[in-house]
Amino acid sequence: MQEDFEVTPWDVEGNVDYRKLVEKFGTKIITDELKKEMKKHAGGDHMYLRRNYFFSHRDLDRVLEDHSKDDGFFLYTGIGPSGPMHIGHIIPFYFSKWLQKKFDVNLYIQVTDDERYWTGDGTTGEIDSYAEQNIMDIAAVGLDPDRTFVFKNKEYMGNMYEAAVKISEKINFSVASSVFGFNSSTNIGMIFYPAVQMIPTFFEKKRCLIPAAIDQDTYWRAQRDIAEKLGYHKAAQIHSKFIPALTGPEGKMSSSKPRSAIMLDDSPEEVRKKVMEKAYSGGQITKEEHRKKGADLSVDVAYQWLKNLFMEDDDRLEEIGRRYNSGEMLTGEIKKILVEKLNNFLEEHRKRKEENGEELKRKMMYEGELAERMWNRKIDLDQ
Ligand code: TYM
Repeated sequence: MQEDFEVTPWDVEGNVDYRKLVEKFGTKIITDELKKEMKKHAGGDHMYLRRNYFFSHRDLDRVLEDHSKDDGFFLYTGIGPSGPMHIGHIIPFYFSKWLQKKFDVNLYIQVTDDERYWTGDGTTGEIDSYAEQNIMDIAAVGLDPDRTFVFKNKEYMGNMYEAAVKISEKINFSVASSVFGFNSSTNIGMIFYPAVQMIPTFFEKKRCLIPAAIDQDTYWRAQRDIAEKLGYHKAAQIHSKFIPALTGPEGKMSSSKPRSAIMLDDSPEEVRKKVMEKAYSGGQITKEEHRKKGADLSVDVAYQWLKNLFMEDDDRLEEIGRRYNSGEMLTGEIKKILVEKLNNFLEEHRKRKEENGEELKRKMMYEGELAERMWNRKIDLDQ
């Protein structure tokens, strides 16, 4: 297995050592104490936190402080429409739903149709169509339609451009190129783009909390360098790990490799086939050997997915882990459990999408309370 790894907003390579990544990025591990605080303020805990899937943060303690002082905070997350969404993409939205509900806060969702054109992920027509499909999936999550604003950058830019002008003036090319790795062949859209991804962190004068995987962190480091100069808070983050591709623990699941990803529109049979045939196993090659040596849980994709995302029941997870690790349970059995969990999750998701996806989409984009307010306002950082 590769020792080295690299994490950028566009790609994740190798076997990520999350402890090292936290050091490299200068973020903080979410300690047990902070988890307790979260639980206290939220009035309950969330499995993603309990299992350390969301594992790192910046200023989450301050967010909780603001919340307890009634200063409040707001949430911001996003999606780059580069294809149909996979399981990894939707998780931050489900986690945001929980945060929104528990803390009763606004949530802004940026759909980066500009970024994905500049990164070459499709023609304008393709990206527009991915954006619409992605927003339907976001609608299926069940966010509060009056406290969520979903916007496409190209469409909403008229309201944001003043802010983009101010933010981009604060970032010079030397900083941008060293932070984002730009070079002389990078198109200048991409060089401007970091300013665009930062704009929503300034939508309110409160502290902004961003739930996302840690790949997006580069933007927030750059935001934190300039926020106070603009009279705003440094953005806070709560970072997740990456869901690995089915085929192995390295890198991340990606829609550019749909066969090793579980897509939100995969049929139950496709899910079954993908998991049974492709999911990387930590078990031994022969049954006899497996019974003797057991499975390596740390690299077993089906077990890791259950642990991080789909097996709510702590006791059941513990039992599965113990029995699989000792060789009593076989890979096929673990995979079957995952298939069932995944298909239940996807079925619920699709049901909500069919039942009221269109209506929720319209509300979150244009007609809900927050959306209406946002369309009636220009984002000008001087206000
Ligand atoms: P994008 O489309 O690459 O990813 C969307 C969200 O999904 C997370 N993610 C994953 N999480 C776990 N496992 C994976 N395999 C995986 N792949 C993607 C990402 O961290 C992200 O939260 N530039 C952004 C769009 C954006 C954005 C934001 C994202 C604009 N503003 C604010 C987060 C927060 C992008 O292209 O994301």
